[in-house]
Amino acid sequence: MLLECLQENDHSDIYPFHMPGHKRRMELGTDAYHLDITEIDGFDNLHHAQGMLAGEQRRLAEYVGAKRSFFLVNGSTCGILAAISAAVSRGGTLLMARNSHKAAYHGVFLRQLQTHYVYPCITGYDIQGAILPEQVEAALAKDPKIEAVYVTSPTYDGVVSDIETIADLTHAYGKILIVDEAHGAHFSLHPSFPPSAIHCGADIVIQSVHKTLPAFTQSAVMHLCSDRVQADVLEQFLDIYESSSPSYVLMAGISRLVPFLKEKGEALFTALDQNLNQFYEKCKELRCLHVISREDLKQEEAFSKDHSKILISTKDCNINGKQLYERLRKDFHLQPEMYSGEYVTALCSLMDEKEGFERLTEALFTIDGSLCPVTNEETSFVARMYRERRQICPIADAVEHRKEALPWKQAQGKTSGEYVYLYPPGIPILVPGECIDEGVICDIEEILTRGMMPEGLRDMQAKFIDAF
Ligand SMILES: Cc1ncc(COP(=O)(O)O)c(C=O)c1O
Repeated sequence: MLLECLQENDHSDIYPFHMPGHKRRMELGTDAYHLDITEIDGFDNLHHAQGMLAGEQRRLAEYVGAKRSFFLVNGSTCGILAAISAAVSRGGTLLMARNSHKAAYHGVFLRQLQTHYVYPCITGYDIQGAILPEQVEAALAKDPKIEAVYVTSPTYDGVVSDIETIADLTHAYGKILIVDEAHGAHFSLHPSFPPSAIHCGADIVIQSVHKTLPAFTQSAVMHLCSDRVQADVLEQFLDIYESSSPSYVLMAGISRLVPFLKEKGEALFTALDQNLNQFYEKCKELRCLHVISREDLKQEEAFSKDHSKILISTKDCNINGKQLYERLRKDFHLQPEMYSGEYVTALCSLMDEKEGFERLTEALFTIDGSLCPVTNEETSFVARMYRERRQICPIADAVEHRKEALPWKQAQGKTSGEYVYLYPPGIPILVPGECIDEGVICDIEEILTRGMMPEGLRDMQAKFIDAF
């Protein structure tokens, strides 16, 4: 049973280098069942907040420096859907970073939007880089119909874009900037992290507090930071996309963040920064594995990099990301957040303990001792998977088109009616409406050969794609 498995995991010696950011080290002081209520008298109503919940959301807005803040209990996902819906009129045009999470594409589908994409560069270490202001400007200059710009910063890998310049440009064109800061709820909370998009001029910022702060899974927040988007329109869409029975347990978890951070944030973030700095310094001695630091990335690849996302590159050794991930899990009982072609991501938060860093360091040095250096001439896995695709028609048209399930080879030259993505990170490799060319088919073959399983397809074995 699920409950027993979760308890077993909790009692095991597996160290969590993954979400949620509370790392299972918070206490409610009482059993969750004792706190779980619905909208009874005195407890306000999230969808019509006038009392306690309105006050809690105001307190959060004051703390982070936003005009308005909204508690979200359906993850950043419902905030992203609401933000896109409020910022772009139905059937309108959105300029979005192509490395966006699938939630943004679903917003595009629901509102039947047209999209233009900006693609991030792929860095020397096989990770997706920043979106550059000049890319955004070029796209804005090309199509005056664009109503809003949507950028993910930081990315899953902790890569930050120059949001301040992007915001200035976006506003110079009279458009709205939405920043998916799902992975950056801890930004601006300590000088060792980059500033939040809230303070860089974004109009709407969405953060998954469950990812990097001590909050329950699914809890997230959305901040409205300017008058360019009407708060009541945003609320109207939240009302549609968010559960009508928001969990008071989740909301209590969000509301206690402000007092918790005020009381303990400084000390915990400072300890995290010290642990991370020691870890990065020690890892410079690795022979084959490489822990990617800010200095490894050129300015045009990453405006900034969040060091709490530890990226361990396998690029120059005889092991790949998946193999390293498996060894960390099986041999050392360390559970990373994810792996990609040539790297593994370990997610850290202010709730991490020194023991975790010591165990990870020891594991990496042991594994490193068993590896050989290799010179990898191939272009990177990420560069292949996230290369530019040819858009044939809008997402909504493709999703609703009559389609047939075809084996990949037979689908060549046709238009995709489905998404293909790896989860995590949930960034589409292929989007409905894009051409299934020879490159796509090679990419899917490569994913399967590597023992990874693409998601988004109706066929769970990924042998067929719905196409037209
Ligand atoms: C970049 C990004 N944005 C949005 C989301 C969705 O966030 P949530 O799981 O809180 O709904 C994710 C989830 O992993 C993500 O990686």
